[in-house]
Amino acid sequence: MSDRISGSRLARQLAGWDGKDGALHTLLAHAIRELIRSGAIARATTLPSQRELAQALAVSRTTVGHAYQELGDEGWISTHHGSGTRVRTTALRSGPLAEDDRLGTYAIPSESFDLSSGVLSTSPLLRRVLRSNWDQDLRRLSSNDRFMPWGINELRVAVAHYYAEVNTPTEPDQVLATNGSHHALTLLVSCLLEPGDTVLVEDPTYRGALDVFSRRGVNVVGIACDDDGPIPSELIAAIRKHTPRMIYTIPTAHNVTGITWSPRRREQIADSIRQFGVPLLDDGSTADLHSGPHPGHLASLLPAELSITIGSLTKLFWSGLRVGWIRATEPVLKAALNARVTSDLAGSIPSQVLTSACLPIANDARTLRRKELGHTRTLATSLIKDWLPTWEFDESRGGACLWINTKVNSVQLASRLRRNNILIVPGPDFSPCDNWQTHVRIPLGDPGLLEEAIPAISKTVGILNFDEDM
Ligand SMILES: Cc1ncc(COP(=O)(O)O)c(C=O)c1O
Repeated sequence: MSDRISGSRLARQLAGWDGKDGALHTLLAHAIRELIRSGAIARATTLPSQRELAQALAVSRTTVGHAYQELGDEGWISTHHGSGTRVRTTALRSGPLAEDDRLGTYAIPSESFDLSSGVLSTSPLLRRVLRSNWDQDLRRLSSNDRFMPWGINELRVAVAHYYAEVNTPTEPDQVLATNGSHHALTLLVSCLLEPGDTVLVEDPTYRGALDVFSRRGVNVVGIACDDDGPIPSELIAAIRKHTPRMIYTIPTAHNVTGITWSPRRREQIADSIRQFGVPLLDDGSTADLHSGPHPGHLASLLPAELSITIGSLTKLFWSGLRVGWIRATEPVLKAALNARVTSDLAGSIPSQVLTSACLPIANDARTLRRKELGHTRTLATSLIKDWLPTWEFDESRGGACLWINTKVNSVQLASRLRRNNILIVPGPDFSPCDNWQTHVRIPLGDPGLLEEAIPAISKTVGILNFDEDM
């Protein structure tokens, strides 16, 4: 962890700090004290200036000043002219070591308007599967009382078909079942990366991945992208400079930008991967949400030993399935298998049976989902044009959200909205280095919620009263 914490990062760690009754400065002092006590802010860390933190939290500088004063009086922090405010090295710690918690919004009690999650509604096709005799295999498998850490054969076969259909020939023994693609990522990071290793990612990227990398103590370097994907010259320069152990990407319907890499860019990136021999992890969790023809998976362009793909049916069918997979070579799968048996022994068989029954109709679900997202995107675009006409975004992209330039400090905006019971995720949460200071993500999962939330956001933006002493 760096020895200086930015305002946006501290605001992220403080998520929900003002959710109780009491004077704001007391609540803020309490929340910072708890972060220091738990080790989430390390000793000797320099805190943001009063002005920077006040901006990020959308409170007055006086509020932050009083909170710092209280913490100083109690001996948690000290202020030195010229070197800022620091956590004292004698501050007591009682919890686990520091992490940059990106998924903290999941732990906040549900707000009136919760736009923090990209979860999509359950596909009506799931109900069709549930009405069929999907559980025949379950009855048969229930007589087997052994753990199946690789996953059930039916699932591995169905996943292999799912890839083969989009030009990525796959054998069932190239597949390891997991509890969702987030779990897949966690397993891979735990067995392939060591603390201190470097990973390259697109900037912005999936905030959950940043959370996983941070917990492993991995350095994360962002690569700038344009509308076709990562900029090849930037990628090559970063590989030369940082000698990364892995490149993590979301090449299709990227969560959060919605960008799908162009065919030419896919070839260029694959060439660089071959040239430098750095393994590429293709997170295909959103790959079914592209708006044009399916571009296939990067695995079809890469040598097997440099290609790892993860996926799930969370976006297509139901986030509650909690089944995903890793597609990779045998040594990688065996390493991930070892990591998985020590964490959960094996996955749930009923969920895998249900997922195996869904996979053969993935094409139908894809068509339906694309249509539904198209409608919601049109609705969101028109609501935003009506209520927040200064917001800028590209409505032609795919994916499950809009990536919007609000042209104001988005960390401050999110803090202010949270106080009005509207939860949104600001741009820096998706960046390894707190970029995207004026962006927010608006998910397209619930049209009814958007109809209510966008006018409410507009009202808050209208009265954004940046404190006179900020
Ligand atoms: C890019 C990306 N990876 C992984 C995940 C986690 O998905 P799962 O539900 O399969 O664990 C998500 C979910 O939003 C995602 O967008």
